[in-house]
Amino acid sequence: MAAPLYNIPGSSQATATAAAAAADMAPKARTVNEVLAQSQVESVMDELERDLVGLAPVKQRIRDIAALLVVDKLRLNLGLVSGASSPSLHMSFTGNPGTGKTTVAMRMAQILHRLGYVRKGHLVAVTRDDLVGQYIGHTAPKTKEVLKKAMGGVLFIDEAYYLYRPENERDYGQESIEILLQVMENQRDDLVVILAGYKDRMDTFFKSNPGLSSRIAHHIDFPDYAQGELLEISDRMLAGMNYHFGAGTREAFAEYLGLRLQQPHFANARSVRNALDRARLRQASRLFADRDRVLGAEDLTTLLPEDIRASRVFQAAAA
Ligand SMILES: Nc1ncnc2c1ncn2[C@@H]1O[C@H](COP(=O)(O)OP(=O)(O)OP(=O)(O)O)[C@@H](O)[C@H]1O
Ligand SMILES: [Mg+2]
Repeated sequence: MAAPLYNIPGSSQATATAAAAAADMAPKARTVNEVLAQSQVESVMDELERDLVGLAPVKQRIRDIAALLVVDKLRLNLGLVSGASSPSLHMSFTGNPGTGKTTVAMRMAQILHRLGYVRKGHLVAVTRDDLVGQYIGHTAPKTKEVLKKAMGGVLFIDEAYYLYRPENERDYGQESIEILLQVMENQRDDLVVILAGYKDRMDTFFKSNPGLSSRIAHHIDFPDYAQGELLEISDRMLAGMNYHFGAGTREAFAEYLGLRLQQPHFANARSVRNALDRARLRQASRLFADRDRVLGAEDLTTLLPEDIRASRVFQAAAA
């Protein structure tokens, strides 16, 4: 029996033709600067550079990919490649929790959109449960529904290795992988798939699924953040929420991070966010206790050292 051919609706011939016609009207870019000006991709790249602390190797890889796409556009404009042979852009993002994988994937979707590689530039983030059904016959419709939503953008599959369960030979994950494989191959001009997860488990997963691995053009590794980077990330997060560290608080938080890093389950920027959320709770309780005090902007936006030092992390260290 021949395998069924999946074709997810979305990139209809009509829209493709209309887009091609529109592209034909604009003068064709012949320089890198013209492509950059037409696509406004540089502003996304600048934001990525500015908003995200550290991640130097990741940022470099994304610049490389953007350069490839820009040059590809120039080649297309000179008729050196056909539009049908768009480069494979499926990627894997490996790294520990909280290293910025989801955040970078969203920026990636915008970059791909501005360069015209996907029509919409949205990100659909899923895990195994969104793709794989519990019963026979449920998996294909689930996977296709997700693919339909993601068409024209980026499908981000977190902890992708859960799709494959070799210990269970009748696992429906395999069915989902097969559909994904076909769509990744046949509709790669309108959908970019990013598989994400821990590095070691991802390596094992790719070894067991060479078909998937061979369709991934870019493997990007997200390193853990150094303590100084985590502090800088916390400054950015606080500023984003309209809070700041008061006198001595940043030092207290640096100490907190030093202790927390030595404990299990540290999840990089995500742990920083959680710690700051707990500090805001303590600040609120502190302010709440003094009911007659007039609270000014400074009171309401400042975290004090005690808001940090009340953490269990310090008590555990003192014990
Ligand atoms: N380099 C960075 N600079 C500033 N903020 C960051 C950076 N990396 C991550 N963050 C912030 O940390 C939080 C967690 O990041 P994100 O969800 O992207 O990580 P992740 O690798 O997808 O984590 P998980 O594996 O837990 O899903 C987000 O709020 C994000 O904005
Ligand atoms: Mg994530």
